[in-house]
Amino acid sequence: MTSADSVPTRALNDGSSIPAVGFGTWPLKGAEAEEGAADALRAGYRLVDTAANYGNETEVGRGIAGSGVPREEVVVTTKLPGRHHGHRATLDSFEESRRRLGVERVDLYLIHWPLPRIDQYVASWQAMIELRERGAVRSIGVSNFTPEHLGRLEDETGVLPAVNQVEMHPLFPQDELRAFHAEKGIVTESWSPLGRGGELLDDPAIVEVARAHGVTPGQAVLRWHLQLDAVPIPKSGGGRRRRDNIDLFGFELSDDEMAAVGDRSPRRLGGDPEHHEEF
Ligand SMILES: NC(=O)c1ccc[n+]([C@@H]2O[C@H](COP(=O)([O-])OP(=O)(O)OC[C@H]3O[C@@H](n4cnc5c(N)ncnc54)[C@H](OP(=O)(O)O)[C@@H]3O)[C@@H](O)[C@H]2O)c1
Repeated sequence: MTSADSVPTRALNDGSSIPAVGFGTWPLKGAEAEEGAADALRAGYRLVDTAANYGNETEVGRGIAGSGVPREEVVVTTKLPGRHHGHRATLDSFEESRRRLGVERVDLYLIHWPLPRIDQYVASWQAMIELRERGAVRSIGVSNFTPEHLGRLEDETGVLPAVNQVEMHPLFPQDELRAFHAEKGIVTESWSPLGRGGELLDDPAIVEVARAHGVTPGQAVLRWHLQLDAVPIPKSGGGRRRRDNIDLFGFELSDDEMAAVGDRSPRRLGGDPEHHEEF
C-alpha cells in the first residue's frame, strides 16, 4: 500500500504545497462519495477534489471527518459554480460550500469554469483573494481557464492563481497551456487524467509501456502526468484501481516511453472553456 509520506508534494506560488496526485470525487454521490473519500484517505491520498456542482460536498466532508486521518493533513478542494459568479455571490457560495463540507477552512478553492459570456470571473477572483486574505481559504485557483483568462486576472488584480485545473490526458496533453503555466508559476492539475478510463487505456502503445514496468495502463498514464509536472486527480469508484492510481512512485518512464504515451492527435473529451457553460 502507498503511504501518504511516499507521495511527493508540489510547491504552489503562494508558499504552500499540494500532493502530486489527488482523488477526484465526481460523479460519486451519497454513501459512495462518503465512503470513497474516507477510503481514499486511508489508501494514502491527501488531496480530495469536489465542487459545489458535484452535489457531494456534504458526503465528502463526512468521509474526510470519519477517515481517521488528521484534518490538517488533507487538502480539501472545492469549486465555485457558474450560478454564483460575481463578488457578493462568490462570498455567499463559499460559505455554503464550507458549511456543507463541515470545515473551518477550505485548502484550495477554484472557479469551476470561466464563463466568458457572463464576464464575472474577475469579480469572483477579487472575492477569492479576500477569502484568502482573511484565512478562510489557504490557496486560490481556477479551472478551465485559458491564457487569456489568466492574463486578465493578473492584469486586473495582480494575483495569479496557484492552480489551474484543466482537462488533460494523453489525448489532450495541453502542451501550450502547460508552458504558459510554467512561465507564470501556476501548477497544472489534470482532470479526466485517465481519459475517463475509456479506450485510451487499451491503446497498444500504452499497454506496452505499462507491461514493461509491470504496472497497469492507468498507472502508466498517471506516471506520464507526474513527469510532465501535472497533478492528476483520478476518480475510481473503489477497490484495486483506487489504490493502483496512487502507487506511482516505484517506476519511471523513459523519454521514449513518455513520447509513446503522449503521441496521438489531440482531442478534447470535455467542454471548450471559451464556450462551455454550466451553472
Ligand atoms: N474541473 C472540471 O471541470 C472537471 C471536469 C471533470 C472532472 N473533474 C475532476 O476530475 C476527476 C477525474 O476525472 P474523471 O472522473 O472525468 O475521469 P478519470 O479520472 O480520467 O476516469 C475515471 C474513470 O476511469 C476508471 N478508472 C479509474 N482508474 C482506472 C484504472 N487504473 N484503470 C482503468 N480504469 C480506471 C473509473 O472507473 P471505476 O470508478 O470503475 O474505477 C472511471 O470510469 C473527477 O472525479 C473530478 O473530481 C473536474
